[in-house]
Amino acid sequence: MRNTVGWQVEGASTTLRRAPLERRDLRPDDLAVRVDYCGVCHTDLHAVGARAGEGGRPLVPGHEFTGVVTETGPAVTRFTVGDPVAVGNIVDSCGECAMCRAGQENFCHAFPTLTYDGTDRHDGSTTLGGYSREYVVRDRFAHPLPAGLDPAAAAPLLCAGITVWEPLRALGVRPGTRVAVAGLGGLGHLAVKIAVALGADTSVVSRSPDKADDARRLGAGGLVVSTDPEQMADARDRFDVVIDTISSPHDLGPYLRLVAMDGTLSHLGHLGPVTVETTDLLVGRKKLSSAGSGGRPATAAMLDFCGEHGITADIELLPSARVNEALDRLRRNDVRYRFVLDMSDLD
Ligand SMILES: NC(=O)c1ccc[n+]([C@@H]2O[C@H](COP(=O)([O-])OP(=O)(O)OC[C@H]3O[C@@H](n4cnc5c(N)ncnc54)[C@H](OP(=O)(O)O)[C@@H]3O)[C@@H](O)[C@H]2O)c1
Ligand SMILES: [Zn+2]
Ligand SMILES: [Zn+2]
Repeated sequence: MRNTVGWQVEGASTTLRRAPLERRDLRPDDLAVRVDYCGVCHTDLHAVGARAGEGGRPLVPGHEFTGVVTETGPAVTRFTVGDPVAVGNIVDSCGECAMCRAGQENFCHAFPTLTYDGTDRHDGSTTLGGYSREYVVRDRFAHPLPAGLDPAAAAPLLCAGITVWEPLRALGVRPGTRVAVAGLGGLGHLAVKIAVALGADTSVVSRSPDKADDARRLGAGGLVVSTDPEQMADARDRFDVVIDTISSPHDLGPYLRLVAMDGTLSHLGHLGPVTVETTDLLVGRKKLSSAGSGGRPATAAMLDFCGEHGITADIELLPSARVNEALDRLRRNDVRYRFVLDMSDLD
């Protein structure tokens, strides 16, 4: 085994502590990556909270990171030592099912191996995430980081970015499409940047009126205040696509009412059971959809697009030792718009 160090929660605590970690020895098609920057996704916060509730085994979060290849297995051909790479929230899949063959490894019928708290397909071990100084990943699930993108600000593209990219593309967003992004956080602000770069006429729906200036700076035409019934009524049926990135369980009704006839609400945020009043779908023949993460081809396409358009996240970079502060502030919605941890303090 290889020794590294990272940030872990254990038992009933929600406080991450610095801990020695083990990584597997390289398999023929593995890369060792020095993790330089890891984004703090709201899913990490959900995972830490859920694990503390169970009082269970250790958890190392982190599933959007960039770094540099430090070693390659003998069968690796796509990367060499020193290459800048990016890794997202999937690190393996069966490679054989219809979804994998279609390049949608995120929907693998045998379930993709998640970057943390997943089960390794070969040795059955639990995967430990990117809040650590080294990660060992199968080469197929590492992506070359496009030149010109700041590696710290690019890290969030690997979860937040790809999660909004796939539905925006799948729903055919193009110049003139009317897009609303609900919840201006990590996913939301990247959804705005990408939708704007795709040429969409983009708006934000937020319960935070003080984000209006940011929404415009990001390229949105305006911000609808979700807590203002008049503004929500004015926005009725106005959007072909509504991308819902809200991190708490919520009533979908008000957001479905913003969707235009034959349009789609893509529910990406808080995953779990939802209640839908079917007349909110019936009136206007509206569609309810969801998505998550992305396949390898879509991830490569998203990185190319962001490289071409100079799209990265708006980040607050913190030394990794301040990870608990980052999670606390994320819990309080005090982030504009993604925390990224600088892992160099783990050396
Ligand atoms: N589908 C997937 O594969 C996938 C991937 C990554 C993340 N996620 C999930 O997506 C959600 C967003 O993640 P994130 O990292 O973007 O989180 P985030 O940065 O915390 O952003 C979430 C935003 O939702 C809005 N919000 C939060 N609580 C709300 C409430 N009670 N009512 C209304 N709006 C609320 C806030 O925006 P305003 O201040 O503008 O209202 C907040 O900025 C999380 O639940 C995460 O687990 C899903
Ligand atoms: Zn994530
Ligand atoms: Zn598969």
